[in-house]
Amino acid sequence: MKSYNIAVLPGDGTGPEVTREAVKVLDAAAAKFSLKLNYTPYDFGGDRYLRTKEVLPESAVGELRKFPAILLGAIGHPDVAPGILEKGILLRLRFELEQYINLRPVKLYDERFCPLKDKGPNQIDFVVVRENNEGLYTGAGGFVFKGTPSEIAVQESINTRRGVERCLRYAFEFTRKRNQDKKLTLVGKTNVLTYAFDLWERAFHEVGQAHYPDIQRDYAHVDATTMWFVKNPEWFDVIVTDNMFGDIITDLGAMIQGGMGIAAGGNINPQGTSMFEPIGGSAPKYTGQGVINPLAAICAGQMLLDHLGETQAAQAVEAAVIKTVREKIKTLAAGKMGHSTSQVGDLVAAAI
Ligand code: IPM
Ligand code: MN
Repeated sequence: MKSYNIAVLPGDGTGPEVTREAVKVLDAAAAKFSLKLNYTPYDFGGDRYLRTKEVLPESAVGELRKFPAILLGAIGHPDVAPGILEKGILLRLRFELEQYINLRPVKLYDERFCPLKDKGPNQIDFVVVRENNEGLYTGAGGFVFKGTPSEIAVQESINTRRGVERCLRYAFEFTRKRNQDKKLTLVGKTNVLTYAFDLWERAFHEVGQAHYPDIQRDYAHVDATTMWFVKNPEWFDVIVTDNMFGDIITDLGAMIQGGMGIAAGGNINPQGTSMFEPIGGSAPKYTGQGVINPLAAICAGQMLLDHLGETQAAQAVEAAVIKTVREKIKTLAAGKMGHSTSQVGDLVAAAI
């Protein structure tokens, strides 16, 4: 029997509720496909920070490094100033575990959940490969004359040839393996960010030409991309972009696939520890009510199985999610699903 050790970080707000359902569904898949999943819980998050004044214990990153995968609920607490937990936990893990890819599928499972007129599952099915370790997220920059009328704030976008190229290679490989339109779109802003995206664009064509002649290369400016997401989402197969643009366009992507209740992502280190999460956040106002939608966390679990190479188990989870949303779920919004959080988990687990 194949056995996997998984670290579980339920985190803040509704994180624990949705993580519980994801684990329930992972267990159903494990039973069906004869896998053994061993979970190790960690209580990192806002409550622990408020209690201990420590965001992450010294040993955390080293311990997490030993796991092939982490399942994360949500990070963000109303009593903790913005940035502390996000930077201290989420971004720190992404950086220190070198999860240099943030993989965000945008897939609509049922027409009823799409806010776009005349678009359905055939039009909305693409994947965003977001660079996850560089760009505007590194914290490079600073203040001069802070708090005075002459103050200056500089926030720099870091783009290394190595970091950009490994992201591009991953995206090309992914596009090839996905085997749909075999089209990779670089999303950037070459008309204004003439250094950063000059590097991206040159690397894109050099890598593509030399190693991926079977993949069609396409380019779109980021502002136009938000327009195409609404107007012609069917144009996209795989998108590759930098950290900040990837952050922004995947919130829009989540909305056209039905909202934060269903959108999942994976922070991937192809050689190390990867971390899977619902992309919606901790939704504190719904905490403990049993109304939050656990499907995004369940889909994160599906991505985790797929990443571990358990393709069949991952496909079974996806099929069960599709069956459940098409046949049993009224809407994907919190409190309006027609079921409680744990009932949705039960439905998906039963469909497996
Ligand atoms: C995301 C989130 C994070 C990000 C925040 C919470 C730091 O918005 O995962 O998209 O900006 O990457
Ligand atoms: Mn975001």
